[in-house]
Amino acid sequence: MHKLEILLAEEKIQAKVDELAGRINQDYAEKELLVVGILRGAFVFMADLVRKLDVSVIIDFVAVSSYGDETASSGVVRILKDLDETITGRHVLLVEDIIDTGLTLKYLYKNLKARRPASLKVCTLLDKPDRRKVDLVPDYNGFIIPDYFVVGYGLDCGQRFRNLPGIYVIDQGSGKETEGEEVKGEMIH
Ligand code: XMP
Ligand code: MG
Repeated sequence: MHKLEILLAEEKIQAKVDELAGRINQDYAEKELLVVGILRGAFVFMADLVRKLDVSVIIDFVAVSSYGDETASSGVVRILKDLDETITGRHVLLVEDIIDTGLTLKYLYKNLKARRPASLKVCTLLDKPDRRKVDLVPDYNGFIIPDYFVVGYGLDCGQRFRNLPGIYVIDQGSGKETEGEEVKGEMIH
């Protein structure tokens, strides 16, 4: 059974998205922003974020996969779907769901930087700095969380739970899934 414990309720996430969008609107005022979402996990966060932006916005996506098991990054990153847009000379904001070891973003950052954008920044909803293996500090970060495996709001476990509006800590204990979920109150205040 998968047990889910609420970590961040929907309202708390939405308030944070508002706050991040406010900062981005200020920082990119008068500029056009190319927002690049990292599939698949960032799709929910990105959809909420861009609807709060009042600067000129273009959307693109990149899909990556890291070889290795489901819950740990191996550090070998493969681009499954590259950008459709050319980013040279443009202001690019990379949007990620969560930074864990930092290996995925480090690789992507270097790869995109080589295409000579006018600027390149990173926005993540969640950060697990305890697990970092490379030096990487996001320009915009929603929440710093402990080393939990989390699902919901775009994040998955075996491709499930991405549709949940809140973020939950998942106990991957004993294999089979459950229909219901156990909610035990917020762990982050
Ligand atoms: P790295 O280690 O390269 O990994 O920073 C980033 C990617 O790993 C996935 N990841 C998670 N996915 N719950 C998830 O659903 C988690 O707690 C988690 N931690 C890391 C995620 O795909 C992210 O893009
Ligand atoms: Mg992911």
